[in-house]
Amino acid sequence: MTDQEKIQQLEQQLRMLDEQLMQTQKLSSVGALASSITHEFNNILTTVINYAKMGVRHKDAKTRDKAFDRILSAGQRATKITTGMLAYARNTSDRFEPCEVNKLLTDVMVLVQKDLQMHRIGVDEDIQPGVWALVNSSQIQQILMNLIVNARQSMKEGGRLRLIIRDNPEDGWAEVSVGDSGCGIPNEQLQKIFDPFFTTKKADARGQGGTGIGLSLCRRIIESHKGRIRVESEVGKGTMFTLKLPRSESPAGLIDTSAA
Ligand SMILES: Nc1ncnc2c1ncn2[C@@H]1O[C@H](COP(=O)(O)OP(=O)(O)O)[C@@H](O)[C@H]1O
Ligand SMILES: [Mg+2]
Repeated sequence: MTDQEKIQQLEQQLRMLDEQLMQTQKLSSVGALASSITHEFNNILTTVINYAKMGVRHKDAKTRDKAFDRILSAGQRATKITTGMLAYARNTSDRFEPCEVNKLLTDVMVLVQKDLQMHRIGVDEDIQPGVWALVNSSQIQQILMNLIVNARQSMKEGGRLRLIIRDNPEDGWAEVSVGDSGCGIPNEQLQKIFDPFFTTKKADARGQGGTGIGLSLCRRIIESHKGRIRVESEVGKGTMFTLKLPRSESPAGLIDTSAA
């Protein structure tokens, strides 16, 4: 094998490992939500079991109808979570296409909602409807998931998560911000947070610490989109990450229903 061929082979291997790292990180961020999702399923099962018991005990049509209604909606709640999870994990498309930014965010919120609720984190949304970006949907959702999980982990109970979406046609960006009222990042660390393996999170009792991979992948993804990622932070007050994504016009023929 010539040197040239060896280099090509190594480059090929590197690309494959890169892709694997990205997918593994994506799945590990779902791991951070495992306990809240298990909790949610427990609640759903309790509802199903209790209403099933009620339906068995009471023979009258009215009670049975009510029991079926409750069981049905509990089942639908469970489906929403499992479909969302599968869609998130399976979406490995490498296509860049126009996506509605709010839709990407909403799909991620379905998965993190319970985690936020369990930690008593409120959500403030300031979302301009109908903002579109030309992106790889899977990768941008991975970034949003990482930023929201980091934000949650930085906050104590009672914290607030801020989600902002803005169209910036003058500069050609679709902008998304994820802010928190958490611990903030000291100045001397701000330079390092995007470095691979930089983490300040110690392993907890269950051995779940930080890997320091999340933000380094966020930066790589944003670079491949020719976008920007900015962070502002004040210790004790909170942190705000802002993504600037290449904007796109909303595709013709699609009616904007987000304001409805
Ligand atoms: N919202 C945030 N608030 C405070 N610190 C943050 C926030 N997001 C990231 N950080 C800091 O950046 C580091 C790197 O983040 P990340 O790459 O996601 O790795 P990990 O979450 O595994 O530690 C974190 O350990 C933390 O110190
Ligand atoms: Mg992280």
